[in-house]
Amino acid sequence: MSDALISASLVFRDDGTPYSPRHDDIYHSAAGALAQARHVFIDGNGLPGRWRGKACFTVIEAGFGMGINFLATWAAWRNDAHRATILNFVSIEKHPFSANDLRAAHAAIIDDDAVVPLADLLASAWPPLEAGMHRLAFDAGAVTLTLALGDAARLLPHLADSGAAADAIYLDGFAPAKNPDMWTPAIFTSLARIAKENATFATYTSAGDVKRALVQSGFEYRKVAGFGGKRAMLVGKRSLSGNAVIDS
Ligand SMILES: C[S@@+](CC[C@H](N)C(=O)[O-])C[C@H]1O[C@@H](n2cnc3c(N)ncnc32)[C@H](O)[C@@H]1O
Repeated sequence: MSDALISASLVFRDDGTPYSPRHDDIYHSAAGALAQARHVFIDGNGLPGRWRGKACFTVIEAGFGMGINFLATWAAWRNDAHRATILNFVSIEKHPFSANDLRAAHAAIIDDDAVVPLADLLASAWPPLEAGMHRLAFDAGAVTLTLALGDAARLLPHLADSGAAADAIYLDGFAPAKNPDMWTPAIFTSLARIAKENATFATYTSAGDVKRALVQSGFEYRKVAGFGGKRAMLVGKRSLSGNAVIDS
């Protein structure tokens, strides 16, 4: 795990949406970063309902980016009187932003007063950009963020071997056509090893290759209404039957 990291550069499109020149894609829908996080990843995984009454709830995310999904999840957890006692969020990122760029990105895109202080705490705790695992703790240790910095294809098997166990999976690489490395059967096979028996997943895409890779790796999916002009997105769970296609 000693691969050198290449950090991300902070670039905005004319409409203010953060954009990656490396992948020629945007970090989130132009219709809103937090709104997308809530619709696709939080609602898509049945949260907050699924964490209620649990001692511990673990989310695994592929693609930390600016941490919008993490911040939205943390804010939803804080706002829920029946939340899990502990929220663990594990996220993999190959090209992290610097702390300064993270702050600048958050200043430009976070439009919710409940999330602003959380973004500030995140940027203040931001680790050095070194490959490997960085564990940050918030809210007196009740919320942990494990940032796995490096390539998902290398780090996910390592996480699976080390016993990581997910209740919910956020699949948030750039678009499959532009970032195919994040959507391979090998990625999903590692995620299936990490997924607990009743784990769910959600992703903004409904691309055919993603559906096929999911099924091949032991997940079943459903198409539901997408966010911000996207007709469909995928949600689903680990397949216990082995027959995994539920396509509507
Ligand atoms: C759509 S953005 C994620 C947005 C993020 N979830 C958020 O809430 O801000 C996709 C992220 O996947 C990362 N990524 C792309 N290829 C990767 C790879 N092979 N391994 C790990 N991360 C990767 C990109 O650097 C980018 O930050």
